[in-house]
Amino acid sequence: MTIPLLSEHAISILRRNDHGGYTVPTHGLYPYQWNWDSAFVALGFAEFDRDRAWVELETLVSGQWDDGMIPQIIFHQDDPGYFPGPAVWATGRTPPTSGITQPPVLASIVRHLWQAEGADPAHPRMRALVAACLKSHRWFHTYRDPLANGLVMVTHNWETGRDNSSEWDEALDRVDTSRVGSYQRRDTAHVDAAMRPTAREYDRYVAILQFGRACGWDHREIADHGPFRMIDVGMSMELLRANRDLLVMVQAIGDSATADELKARIALSEHGVDWLWNEDAGAYCSRDLGTGQSSGLVTNASFLAFYAGVGNAAQHARLIAALGRLTHSARFLLPSLEAGSRAYDHQRYWRGPIWLVVSYMVALGLAETGHQAWADRIRSDSAGLIELSGFYESFSPETGAGSGGPDFSWTAAMWLAWCGKVASP
Ligand code: SER
Repeated sequence: MTIPLLSEHAISILRRNDHGGYTVPTHGLYPYQWNWDSAFVALGFAEFDRDRAWVELETLVSGQWDDGMIPQIIFHQDDPGYFPGPAVWATGRTPPTSGITQPPVLASIVRHLWQAEGADPAHPRMRALVAACLKSHRWFHTYRDPLANGLVMVTHNWETGRDNSSEWDEALDRVDTSRVGSYQRRDTAHVDAAMRPTAREYDRYVAILQFGRACGWDHREIADHGPFRMIDVGMSMELLRANRDLLVMVQAIGDSATADELKARIALSEHGVDWLWNEDAGAYCSRDLGTGQSSGLVTNASFLAFYAGVGNAAQHARLIAALGRLTHSARFLLPSLEAGSRAYDHQRYWRGPIWLVVSYMVALGLAETGHQAWADRIRSDSAGLIELSGFYESFSPETGAGSGGPDFSWTAAMWLAWCGKVASP
């Protein structure tokens, strides 16, 4: 397909996945509104329907909890094709939602849309979303910063968006599954089980969910005593970046007290990320809060350091060396796990496959920090994957074949807003 035809196809995917105010990631496998999916999808809509882009984000924050959490999933309409659905989460919210969050990329997307429209400080839609983002970031600071160092603790691996990353394996091994009971997965009815987490892993995911439900989704209790507590390198970098983007908008609005609050948070996180640097791996890695153990794994999230604006020259050199190494083991960049690492699997979800939204954030960061050639390489590989295989959920770094669901919203959005464009980061 030619570039204009692919762009038309991408637009038709977003139109078809639009359920009226929110967009499902793909039909069948994910029939609801997902948090970070919607944020990236708005970037795609903004290329041809700016109003619809804002609506996507406004619908997302309509599910925000009173304590500030923006949930991972909003169940606008029940659908028996997904597990775990609203009855399993039982959060008692209207609209029904899950009880956990997802990567805080919203503020960064809002800034992008607002600046593309001229950066008017009085922009009412920007201002309303900034208020929602602030509330959400304060929720992270209140409930998810147990070390008071500006990093993000996750209490469920689903929060990271990188569901079955090998980074979580050891912490998940310690989760007690003896009371999980029986349940029926739906995901493997939609896509090949070889592309999804295993049954053993799912039992652990369900056990962690059940802990939250049993305590009535008390976020303090979950944060202090939950069965899964990891400092996630991905969300730590994403929140740092989101705080920087939020600061720009808050300064434009002229709210100096909030600007000072954000500057303090940013400074805290800039120092805090040192704790995630693993000198042996030459990369930033997630750490288990229970054991203090670093995963030691080079994942696509490790390279979000550029996007977050952290790392000294020596650390950047190690990360760039890791990118160079990846070009030998992968035909396409940027794999979610380095080949040869523990439990690497080129088609199993976040244990190897390429996810274009992470590639986009990494490429943006590389371009901003003077590594334009690497940004270009990731961008052209990303476009090549879509040209080769279509708009899949993820792609094998070895063969370029699609993995997971087809006609995927955020992949279409990344084509329109980034890798399918003639000039971009
Ligand atoms: N990605 C998860 C799933 O596979 C939920 O966030 O269901």
